[in-house]
Amino acid sequence: MKDKHLVELLKEMTLAEKVGQLVQLTPDFFAQGGEITGPMQQWQMSEAQSYQIGSVLGTHTAEQVYTIQKQYLEKSRLKIPLVFMADVIHGYETIFPIPLAMAASFDEHLIEKAAKLAAKEAAEAGIHVTFSPMADYVKDARWGRVLESNGEDPTLSSVLTAAYVRGYQGATNNLNKDKKRIAACVKHFVGYGAAEGGRDYNTVDLSDLEIYQNYLPAFKAAIDAGAALVMTSFNTVRGIPATANQPLIQDVLRKKLGFEGLVISDWAAVAELIAHRVAADGEEAAKKAFHAGIEMDMMSDCYMNSLAQIITAAPELQQQLDQAVYHVLKLKDRLGLFDDPYRGLNEADLSVHLDTDTRLSTREAAEKTAVLLKNEDILPLSKNQKIALIGPKADSKDIFGAWSWIGKQEDAVSLKEGLSEKHLDLSVLSYAEEEVLSDHYIEEACKLAEQSDVVLLAVGESSEESGEAASLTKLTLSRRQDVLVQEIAKHNPNVVLILFNGRPLVLSDIEESCKAILIGWFPGSEGGHALANLLTGTVEPQGRLPMSFPRSVGQLPLTYGQLSTGRPKTPDNQDQKYISRYMDEENDALYPFGFGLGYGSCEIEQTTITHISEEEGLYEVNARLINHTEKAHRTLLQLYSQDLVTEVARPIRELKQWRKVLVPAKSSIDITFNISETQFAYVHSDLLLKNDPGKIALYIGFDSKQADKIGEIAI
Ligand code: BGC
Repeated sequence: MKDKHLVELLKEMTLAEKVGQLVQLTPDFFAQGGEITGPMQQWQMSEAQSYQIGSVLGTHTAEQVYTIQKQYLEKSRLKIPLVFMADVIHGYETIFPIPLAMAASFDEHLIEKAAKLAAKEAAEAGIHVTFSPMADYVKDARWGRVLESNGEDPTLSSVLTAAYVRGYQGATNNLNKDKKRIAACVKHFVGYGAAEGGRDYNTVDLSDLEIYQNYLPAFKAAIDAGAALVMTSFNTVRGIPATANQPLIQDVLRKKLGFEGLVISDWAAVAELIAHRVAADGEEAAKKAFHAGIEMDMMSDCYMNSLAQIITAAPELQQQLDQAVYHVLKLKDRLGLFDDPYRGLNEADLSVHLDTDTRLSTREAAEKTAVLLKNEDILPLSKNQKIALIGPKADSKDIFGAWSWIGKQEDAVSLKEGLSEKHLDLSVLSYAEEEVLSDHYIEEACKLAEQSDVVLLAVGESSEESGEAASLTKLTLSRRQDVLVQEIAKHNPNVVLILFNGRPLVLSDIEESCKAILIGWFPGSEGGHALANLLTGTVEPQGRLPMSFPRSVGQLPLTYGQLSTGRPKTPDNQDQKYISRYMDEENDALYPFGFGLGYGSCEIEQTTITHISEEEGLYEVNARLINHTEKAHRTLLQLYSQDLVTEVARPIRELKQWRKVLVPAKSSIDITFNISETQFAYVHSDLLLKNDPGKIALYIGFDSKQADKIGEIAI
């Protein structure tokens, strides 16, 4: 049912006004600087056209939003408020760890809370819609945008993607009432993470089976959670760019996933149909994108310049145009913009800069997302040690990572600042970021290492090295940071590597030089405090890898959930030639999905599987966790499955459920997973998700590799 007042409004609109609603531009078109996240083109726009557009993206301040909206409402005939959108990806002004790190928490509640806090800050700056969450399935760390993802597991990603939507929009999705929430735009529909060679914007060629099984679930989860918008991706799907792909948008997104909101292109993607060479000019690009179902044209002039002519020449498209404009108006209505075009701005308390509770939440998030990959009895640090802190990240404030454009680096807490509050015997030798390490620095660092008991080596990526348009062919430490690690280890074996990174890196050449490795990711505003708490043991590391760390770039794309092959490598056939393996490298990851250490330990005992309801196909899986030590330990118990015989090739192992558990010292805890047969449904060759009878093996463990088989069920 369409809202009557919107239908009435639609009737009053001229063709040019309708087309205008489908155009989104940066604030530059209103003589205001904005966030630039793609190529800029100059195009001519009349004043009348600029007061007809529907949306602005990438404003920086509340004042900017206020000025543009006010000017627009004064000058536009129908006074339909602009909807302001922006990339609020991991916080707005107060910065949370990057999404890949957040996924390491395996904690939907943490993510929902972070999204809620980000929404509040953004809403108070006049933002109505965030271009988040990114639901892209990923398994290639060369692609810099893995930073924005939830990692390599479709089930984990679905759960977390839905949590982002709930956090941004509120569980009741009542954006009209709740002005501290914003609408979510899930992206990039679909397949973007499969860019060939991990090169951003490159060709994608995926089977339908793969798309349905791995790429759609997180989008479905976001849509089921009520995501208001979907952004299409830059890449091709079955040869046709998503922006011009009618079957993809109409049959898959609209019909199969039941999406009823607004479909927006990615930045300039409509015009880029010309570069893809599937459109000869802007008019053809507009025609193809519009036919496909793109409703809002982000940052290209194709709709603005050609859509009116296209509709005039083909009046049968009028209804589709009205439908698209209706979706824009409906979004504005849902957000309450017709009643309050300055939504959020009035609620803002501009005297509060960086709310303390939000900062503390980013610290909590950073503490819960760092992953300890190795620890040979060296962490946590103790007070009586002489500690050297060395490396380009030692005192760096470049710890936000990509997509943190509003956050100010001066508000970040560096590792040095965090550690200085811990009353340690600490000497610091930092180095300018983004510069290749000099021989002189490495020599000085080695001298300091020699005089110390423990060396904290803070290294990693700069913000520019991960994210959009940051594809890499080498994933080892850059700028001679690997040389620094190896040289230091020659002078002091007690090396603790602290990594700041936006993607899995290849650590094969340096891991042996380190006694401990802590993955801090880009940890956000309170990174230094969080890492200091982790290193000194105030907090136990509890992050688990959401994406495998490869041994070598040559293994990519890599996932723990690879399909079974006809010639699998097994412990018994290592000496044979004709099996699926590399001659110069292992098949598996150096650190697998789900892996991470804490400072304590526990064991799994007494696992049972009970068939509790035949009719409903329900099972209960029980496991007892025993902590024999004197220290409480927090861990992530993971339940995996393998369907033994299937119609299409299936992953060797699939994560089904997980649970964070605190096992007190010298005690045990019983954990129950309730599992239903429907969780073993898989996409068949007819692209339908269904169960078929057969046996399923279940595994329980602390990561995807070490999980032990606990039995089989027959469904
Ligand atoms: C990115 C999107 C982003 C958009 C707007 C594009 O370059 O691919 O993820 O939301 O810019 O900033």
